[in-house]
Amino acid sequence: MKPVLGIETSCDETAAAVVDGDGSILAESVLSQLHEHAPFGGVVPEVAARTHLKYLADQVRSVMGRSGIGFAELGGVAATLGPGLIGGLLVGSQFGKGVALANRLPFVGVNHLEAHALTARLCGVATSEATFPYLLLLLSGGHSQCIAVSGIGQHVRLGGTLDDAVGEAFDKVAKLLGLEWPGGPALERLAAEGNPASHLFPRPMRRRPGCDFSFSGLKTAVAQTVLRAGPDLQHSARADIAASFQQAVVDILCDRAVHAMDMMRGGFPGADMLVVAGGVASNAAVKGGLLGATTSRGFTLVAPPIKLCTDNAVMVAWTGIERLRLGWSDSLQESARPRWPLDTLEAVLE
Ligand code: KG4
Ligand code: ZN
Repeated sequence: MKPVLGIETSCDETAAAVVDGDGSILAESVLSQLHEHAPFGGVVPEVAARTHLKYLADQVRSVMGRSGIGFAELGGVAATLGPGLIGGLLVGSQFGKGVALANRLPFVGVNHLEAHALTARLCGVATSEATFPYLLLLLSGGHSQCIAVSGIGQHVRLGGTLDDAVGEAFDKVAKLLGLEWPGGPALERLAAEGNPASHLFPRPMRRRPGCDFSFSGLKTAVAQTVLRAGPDLQHSARADIAASFQQAVVDILCDRAVHAMDMMRGGFPGADMLVVAGGVASNAAVKGGLLGATTSRGFTLVAPPIKLCTDNAVMVAWTGIERLRLGWSDSLQESARPRWPLDTLEAVLE
């Protein structure tokens, strides 16, 4: 399989990558739009779309230059088609289609969630290749889901968030504590200085059947604590709140992951791998907790390196390779899909 060019523009990262057919990364680049959105305290869709438009061509030119191959030597072009912000999806997918059309290459319209799911199969990420079926715990700013991945395009959603995504909860609590956006990494740093047992915050959904999550009650409890403490909250008091919140999240995730592993074993008796993906998977406390949970259930935890956990184009190019290897490509008529749940993927393909 020849190398594939991948393009990712579904949220606030403008990313391009060239990945070889065996999963080795020839060149990659991620341009974070942090500075564009930080003044607004969150991603502004219109600003994101315009920034993708401004930088995407340069990103693609740069990775193609560094990969050492020409467009004619590519085996295809893969671009994120959804889910995500419509403006960015249009910029990236239309650009990808243009490159494919101009160079007579097959085009793959990638589901961003499937791209996170397949990252574990990239060369060198898992100690041995992540073979199907495996359990995916997707923990990002927009999604929190437990998914049984049994093949390319074959996913069963076992559970997911009923309200906020876990990354969103980190971002909102970080904002309450006066931290910069995006809050997850800043909150993790602050939590390292605090006592995780100082506040007993609620653990919604814990021990309930299934593996759905809920974070809004936890977020409200933190908000009330911050409000009660008043405006002159000392650094150490903020660190204690951050550490206690993070501990509550870890406990919730571990409880839900244990349920998800049991559900996975029910449907796929031989399953023994849990893959964690999404930005929150870069949190050391979350990874540590999940390591204990997986060990207790006889599962192996696969956590891709941080730069492959957060949004990137390597995972998009790799998904293109996995699909092209099966002889699957998409029509240039396919349009961007802001909403595109993973478990509808098979239906959409048929
Ligand atoms: O997967 P991702 O890069 O983008 C999507 O949402 O698709 O995830 C970003 C989310 C943000 O909410 C960010 O605050 C969170 O992941 N995050 C973290 C950490 N690093 C990123 N949350 C907790 N601890 C971290 N170290
Ligand atoms: Zn993502």
